[in-house]
Amino acid sequence: MAAPAEILARFFPVPTQTTDEDKTFLLAALGLMRRENPTFSFLEIGSYRGGSLAPFLMDSSCDRIVSIDERGRALSDERGKKIDYTGFTQQAMVEALHARGVPTDKLIMFDGSIERYDGSGGASFDLAFIDGEHTDAACFRDFLWTLPLMRPDSIVMFHDRTFIHNALRLIDIYLRKDGRPCRTIHKADSEMSAIAFGRYRTIDLQGWFGAEELPEDFHPRAEVEMIQHVLSNRVKVDHVLSIVSPRTDPAA
Ligand SMILES: C[S@@+](CC[C@H](N)C(=O)[O-])C[C@H]1O[C@@H](n2cnc3c(N)ncnc32)[C@H](O)[C@@H]1O
Repeated sequence: MAAPAEILARFFPVPTQTTDEDKTFLLAALGLMRRENPTFSFLEIGSYRGGSLAPFLMDSSCDRIVSIDERGRALSDERGKKIDYTGFTQQAMVEALHARGVPTDKLIMFDGSIERYDGSGGASFDLAFIDGEHTDAACFRDFLWTLPLMRPDSIVMFHDRTFIHNALRLIDIYLRKDGRPCRTIHKADSEMSAIAFGRYRTIDLQGWFGAEELPEDFHPRAEVEMIQHVLSNRVKVDHVLSIVSPRTDPAA
């Protein structure tokens, strides 16, 4: 169940591309970080207007925030839709946050893919949110580059899991091969998934985040949904079937 509307409005004053259930999940993750650490650090890949950064910027326990965003591009996603993020700069994001009274003093911003981010600080993040380019290849890449930046006890969250469900499958294979103990949760009725490492994997994640959608239900559902998206976005039925270029939609 989603948190009450007044709570969500208070913690998410800037428009975000998340649903109320997704926001509730983000707040639960923030609450868990607060319970487990005197202070914690947050890494976000894909910030757009800054909506999903806001609760972390407003929280005094979160003392370091890095926002990585390949700003100013139009990108295709796994559905075959092209989303136009051009025109959204660092300055536009900061102005959007300030306009809603969100402080940005602890915010560090990097323009570009995480591949080019200087990760020499090592494993220093407690929580990450991957919500950048929604293709399986890009999500898998973002995770591979995020992983070495995470502390042994940490959580990596993903948004729009239906679109990137095959990346989540590959990540699961990679982590098994790596022998890294972890536990994945796909939150029911939301587009949020998370992988808990170290001591976080032993806590009652369903108790904390809410009921989960089991992988055996999630992946087949996502498969069907993605086929429907691809058919409506990329396949044109004339006399013969033909594959069309991705359609460009404004960011929504
Ligand atoms: C879905 S929006 C993020 C929404 C935001 N997290 C929210 O909840 O409001 C995706 C963002 O990812 C950025 N992006 C796209 N490709 C990226 C990449 N390869 N690396 C990092 N960011 C990327 C876009 O510029 C856009 O700002």
